[in-house]
Amino acid sequence: MRKPFIAANWKMNNTVPEAIRFVTALTSDLKAISGVDVVIAPPFTALYSAGVALADTEFYLSSQNLFWEDSGAYTGEISGPFLADVGCRYAIVGHSERRQLFSETDETVNRRLKAALRNNLVPIMCVGETLAEREANQTWDVIRRQLDGGLSGIDLAALADFVIAYEPVWAIGTGKTATSGQAQEVHGLIRRYIADKFGSAVADKTRIIYGGSVKPSNSRELLSNPDIDGALVGGASLDPKQFAAIVRSAH
Ligand code: 13P
Repeated sequence: MRKPFIAANWKMNNTVPEAIRFVTALTSDLKAISGVDVVIAPPFTALYSAGVALADTEFYLSSQNLFWEDSGAYTGEISGPFLADVGCRYAIVGHSERRQLFSETDETVNRRLKAALRNNLVPIMCVGETLAEREANQTWDVIRRQLDGGLSGIDLAALADFVIAYEPVWAIGTGKTATSGQAQEVHGLIRRYIADKFGSAVADKTRIIYGGSVKPSNSRELLSNPDIDGALVGGASLDPKQFAAIVRSAH
């Protein structure tokens, strides 16, 4: 049985005081929760203080990205060892905003995934199609290409943990959620892809989470699908009450 995984991707939101306020509110609200992996991905500047605020809790810290080299003359970049140093357990890799706005490719996603693994960070690897790709019936071609390229040279069977996030680009920040059926269909295909490539035991244990306008009003239905193991939440993760409600719906 896969443990539900609910992650807050704050994107470029929340200063240090705001992050501490959020974590304090969330941890007191969810004190009694168990059986769900709860993950917070603040911007780089708030990682350390959010990590300190999370220290005595069961919740995990994630970065939103990482660079593929570990150190050196790469002005403005943040690498795996620095993220591990501030207490990150997870790293989001290949978010569609990185792909669309910052020229991320399957090849750079692959390099970042390898850097995360080398530094004992568990990747949350994002894949997803645009509206034009969906309308052209290319959804699975696009996702298979992202999986092939991103996972090149990576053996999921050798890893204790690896999370894949299906985030249809047209559902991100638009209020337009994939229907439960649309999301389950792609999650099922991703799980079959993992089974074909790495074996059914790996497919059975890999968590595949959904992202794209997840809110308290739709999370329970999305999470009731057999292949949807959690959620990567953007907008609704900025309000501790809404995020807590989504975590509860996974319980
Ligand atoms: P929204 O929940 O705001 O649609 O964002 C989803 C997302 O991109 C999470 O990574």
